[in-house]
Amino acid sequence: MKNDDGKPLVWITGASSGLGYAVATLYAKDGATIVASARSQTKLANLANLAVQTEADAVADRSLQGSIVPLPMDVTDDDSVTSGVKTILDNYGVPDTIILNAGYYDPCSLDEVTLEHFEKTIDVNYRGVVRCLLAVLPALRANSLSKLDGPRPHIVIVSSVAGYSGLPRAAAYGSTKAALTNLAESMKHELNSVGIDISVVNPGFVKTPLTDLNEFPMPFIMEVEDAALAMYTGLAKRQFEVTFPKRFTWIMKFMRILPYPVYFMATRKLL
Ligand SMILES: NC(=O)c1ccc[n+]([C@@H]2O[C@H](COP(=O)([O-])OP(=O)(O)OC[C@H]3O[C@@H](n4cnc5c(N)ncnc54)[C@H](OP(=O)(O)O)[C@@H]3O)[C@@H](O)[C@H]2O)c1
Repeated sequence: MKNDDGKPLVWITGASSGLGYAVATLYAKDGATIVASARSQTKLANLANLAVQTEADAVADRSLQGSIVPLPMDVTDDDSVTSGVKTILDNYGVPDTIILNAGYYDPCSLDEVTLEHFEKTIDVNYRGVVRCLLAVLPALRANSLSKLDGPRPHIVIVSSVAGYSGLPRAAAYGSTKAALTNLAESMKHELNSVGIDISVVNPGFVKTPLTDLNEFPMPFIMEVEDAALAMYTGLAKRQFEVTFPKRFTWIMKFMRILPYPVYFMATRKLL
């Protein structure tokens, strides 16, 4: 099955739970073919089973019109990413949209933190995105240069408002997310000049297995379905930055322009 049926092809990493899972279902509702990646094969199979196979089912159930193909992958493993991308290109074609969403978060104070904690966070969140990006970029560039009409390929990096500025107990996680946002900003002009769009998604708090680990109050926390819809809608407009919920992300944007003494006075309360 090659991507020549006119349906958009979307590759999503971290699609086995949370935001990635919810966004995958939205693209599939819209008729796209989704290649869903993560390590958990069982969860990916459950996601794939949501997509209905026949048009009759789709009409009767008002369910998913597209298809979801599970593609197990560990973004920390070079071979897994290289062979996964080869499978996508050989079997489905060049993706129209690539959502690099796989992420790892383990809230940790400096008392508890270890080198392994930093290495794992960096390997999944930052190197994982770079690994996937570099594996698919040559095909994306070639495809974009060869077709001058039609929608431009779209790379999406899922970062976080935790990357706006440093927050207590998020030394490893926050710094990987700051790096991702910087990465997206750095690549924007070069990618645009070869016909590729790029977006960065900066969510506030969203109720997923990732935030279930937090023991502190999470202001303006969103249900995952609402967050996925906000993400999907912003990406459809090809905004460079997609953020949600707006009230929280504006507070975080404001905080990063505060003078350090005021900023640290505010963030000290988060200890
Ligand atoms: N939830 C929030 O409040 C929030 C806020 C800001 C940003 N974000 C970002 O949003 C993204 C999605 O997070 P989420 O909240 O939806 O968390 P989640 O439910 O824990 O999802 C994380 C996803 O990443 C995958 N993953 C983890 N390690 C991987 C690896 N080595 N290789 C491949 N896939 C891997 C997981 O699948 P497997 O375990 O099956 O591999 C899972 O599908 C993350 O980048 C996160 O940093 C979330």
